[in-house]
Amino acid sequence: MRWWIWLFIYICNVQGLGAQELLANVYGRQYTLLNGKWNAIIDPYQQGRRTAIYKNRVLRDKADFKEYAFEGGLRLNVPSDWNSQLSELKYYEGTVWYARKFEINRKSDENLFLYFGAVSYRCRVYLNGVQIGGHEGGFTPFQFNITNAVREGENFLAVEVDNTRTVDAIPALSFDWWNYGGITRDVMLICTPKDYISDYFIQLDKYKPDYIHAEVQLSARSVGQMVKIEIPELKVASEAFTDERGLAKKTFRVRNLKRWSPQNPKLYQVIVSSESDKVEENIGFRNLYVKNTRIYLNDSPVFMKSIGLHEEIAQRQGRAYSEQDAVALLSEAKELGVNMIRLAHYPQNEYIVRLAERMGLMLWEEIPIWQGIDFKNNDTRLKAQRMYAEMLKRDRNRCALSFWGIANETVPSEARNAFLKSLVKLCREMDTTRLITAAFDLPKLNPKTNTFEMEDSFIEELDVVSINKYMGWYHRWPMSPSEVRWNIALDKPLIFSEFGGEALYGQSGDATVTSSWSEEYQEKLYKDNLEMFRHIPNLAGISPWILFDFRSPYRFHPTNQEGWNRKGLISDQGYRKKAWYVMKEYYESIK
Ligand code: GCU
Repeated sequence: MRWWIWLFIYICNVQGLGAQELLANVYGRQYTLLNGKWNAIIDPYQQGRRTAIYKNRVLRDKADFKEYAFEGGLRLNVPSDWNSQLSELKYYEGTVWYARKFEINRKSDENLFLYFGAVSYRCRVYLNGVQIGGHEGGFTPFQFNITNAVREGENFLAVEVDNTRTVDAIPALSFDWWNYGGITRDVMLICTPKDYISDYFIQLDKYKPDYIHAEVQLSARSVGQMVKIEIPELKVASEAFTDERGLAKKTFRVRNLKRWSPQNPKLYQVIVSSESDKVEENIGFRNLYVKNTRIYLNDSPVFMKSIGLHEEIAQRQGRAYSEQDAVALLSEAKELGVNMIRLAHYPQNEYIVRLAERMGLMLWEEIPIWQGIDFKNNDTRLKAQRMYAEMLKRDRNRCALSFWGIANETVPSEARNAFLKSLVKLCREMDTTRLITAAFDLPKLNPKTNTFEMEDSFIEELDVVSINKYMGWYHRWPMSPSEVRWNIALDKPLIFSEFGGEALYGQSGDATVTSSWSEEYQEKLYKDNLEMFRHIPNLAGISPWILFDFRSPYRFHPTNQEGWNRKGLISDQGYRKKAWYVMKEYYESIK
């Protein structure tokens, strides 16, 4: 990695922003899950930190007392949001303490890491009464090296979680999804040898189908350590030696590589080893690039048949977190006939990303820079850069990951452009292979040309421009759908990354009345938008918003919404609406 990324990570460490090292491929390591029921205390006035309940102190004598106890009280599932576990917590925004004990019986000089898949939205972590760190950001992993913090035998772990929205957060004060709080993904104890493989990035050359580039970062920052990359099926066993940073780089040629694609999601067993450590996982290899206004996968143009998806199980009214949840969500997406999923509006759990890769689903991933963000705040920019780095470090070996989304519906300004350009720069430094895009809702009808146009200098930074526009819902048709014309970044591929309208499943009504919330209206809206898409010259993909109805505090209508955004093609109870069949037929018509 470039010197300035090391500096950035150092700064974040100093700022306690938790941008510490992130082990690559945690599920391929020696780990113990700390999932299950944890003790919990709801702390709306943040008294727990003031009274140091994380020390879980023992009463000194008969005259002593304490006004809390973790044992014998509320118990919450980990992983899971708290909102769906207790009706009193449905709308709760504030602090909840989680605590549990765990045993350590270490034999050798192994390293021990405490790893969180995600905690929403910010947290402080205490081990045996001492704060070992914290993290901000509800959708990216973080870890702590607790080798020297644990004690043999019983340890007491407390996590102070707070999901209060703030103006300097990402996302900020308002966003159109539920503000789930809690320890929302797996918690793991990970053991590694004293000298271990910290990170690696193994990928096919951006354009050549037979060259693989590998970078392997060892924990020991010393020169001359041997690293080996093996891909048995390709008869690859390539050695390299680290530089003074402990980083080994190697490019090697492969023959008869079957490149990953939605039609053939081929993955190869890849083994990375050093003198003292060894990890393995399945990795796919593919070429992805833009040429003029087309997106090319493995040297053939591909049309992105996508769908938007929140990380939510609507029937449980809770955030998705498990392999089973991933199967439930992605199997429905596959049924629709998609070759891509836009994981909106934040990095989703690793089960979803890895399963998508095995199912042959390309992915668009983004951090929740959603509409109003404090772009003038340098700390917020550092947070965004750290979240981006955490997302890329976790997922950049996933060949299904095709697009990094930089932002969603932001308004041009000097501060916003500088903020977003810094993310594009970071991304291109860390990962040269993926396509960078952003979703804009700025296009307006130019009355002089009677065409939808948009001015935004930030487009120049992108490989692909993406448009969110709700024709027939938030925006009236200015003319018949077949007459609507678009003139947006005609030199780049354009993905229509959001369109759609609401319908309450089972509600019939007039297909011409928007406020009918009828399936017939939604069905006609989809047909009208598909007609409009036929006339966008640089259209390279579409991504209807959204696969499932989802929870949102924005959505007040007493009968049609009741706290649900009803733009789903599938209802919150899993029933397909008429518009689902329109998209199914359309996607099947595109080979
Ligand atoms: C926006 C936004 C989505 C939101 C959608 C809607 O485009 O990106 O997050 O849910 O509109 O209003 O339904």
